[in-house]
Amino acid sequence: MSRRQNRETICASAAVGVDAAHHSVAPPLHLSANYAWSDPCQKPQYDYARSGNPTRSQLEEALCALEGAAKGVVTASGMAALDLVLCLVAPGELVLAPHDCYGGTHRLLTARAKRGQFDVAFVDQSNPETLDAAFRRAPKLVLIETPSNPLLRISDIRSCVALARKTGALVVADNTFLSPALQRPLELGCDIVVHSTTKFINGHSDVVGGAVLARDAALGEELAWWANCTGVTGAPFDSFLTLRGLRTLFPRIERQQLTAQALVDALAADDRVETVFYPGLSSHPGHEIARSQQAGFGAMFSVEFKEGVEVLRLLRSINVFTIAESLGGFESLVCLPAAMTHASMDAEARRIAGISERLVRFSAGLEHEQDLLRDIFTALDSASEIGAALPAGPANISKFPKQAADICA
Ligand SMILES: Cc1ncc(COP(=O)(O)O)c(C=O)c1O
Repeated sequence: MSRRQNRETICASAAVGVDAAHHSVAPPLHLSANYAWSDPCQKPQYDYARSGNPTRSQLEEALCALEGAAKGVVTASGMAALDLVLCLVAPGELVLAPHDCYGGTHRLLTARAKRGQFDVAFVDQSNPETLDAAFRRAPKLVLIETPSNPLLRISDIRSCVALARKTGALVVADNTFLSPALQRPLELGCDIVVHSTTKFINGHSDVVGGAVLARDAALGEELAWWANCTGVTGAPFDSFLTLRGLRTLFPRIERQQLTAQALVDALAADDRVETVFYPGLSSHPGHEIARSQQAGFGAMFSVEFKEGVEVLRLLRSINVFTIAESLGGFESLVCLPAAMTHASMDAEARRIAGISERLVRFSAGLEHEQDLLRDIFTALDSASEIGAALPAGPANISKFPKQAADICA
């Protein structure tokens, strides 16, 4: 796989024509759990599928080429990828994380820190003063999630890397929201990129997977050692499907991004909307930084609706969008982060992060933009009329059954 190829070509030709046995154009799927040794003293390239598998290697190579990594590990989920990175941190060392990161990441960091596996500090990484103060605590690892989930806050990757260079911290970027098609953190100086490949990279909402990609080969080897040790590596069939999804990453995300921009423009002009969170808007506080470090503004946005809009009614009236966790697939999705993706954060942590009960997150899919616009605005009309007739007050997530508030995919 040549690094000199354009990334569109790397995607489209990922593992195409690698079958030396039969010259199949699409690669074969290697499901075998183990591989024969010709001699007990000569370890073959692949011996046992937890440590290595040809299909998983093809996906790892393609992702490394896309992100500019020396070595990568494909994992069973995005959470497994994040947990793998946390193997690099020892008790007493500090992990610095964004205060509005994905709810599952927040839960993982909090739970592991409670066990004493490391210390964690959640900070607003989009605020240079807060970030400066946090770096004075000499973190061992800094996790960046930019744009953040669900508020699309932008952290300045270059500034974060510059601060980390002074203190010797490892910088890890969760690039799930943009994919290597729109942002390449290793080129901006990060040490590691993490993905939930469940999202844009696979893009077909039929695999849960993840990846950890290291700029430095030795660090990549260390991560691969931990991945084999803990058994978090991805399954061959999942890797096969993810490779298939990856081949269409560019056309999917480019089209989805255009649709997101059209929806954002229409919503931003509506007086029932308090704020649209989308880095492509010139009013977004991170707009200029996003322009400087991203190749596009992405297909994700969130909307804070005004008091007159009954948010639960809006979600229940929506049709073309599906109410679901996850993002980045071919299908348009909508969710209420406070009750869904970020329900595992306690109410105070959500308040500090700015995730209100009136915040709705959208993932633009591949449907026609006119159908999506009609869907949102029909639901908004019905939620605004009914909102006036209902008792005043914001949508109350305690209306959700207990289980819904406990689930965080
Ligand atoms: C930004 C981000 N990182 C990580 C994850 C976790 O990925 P997975 O669900 O594949 O474990 C998610 C899931 O939504 C996410 O949005």
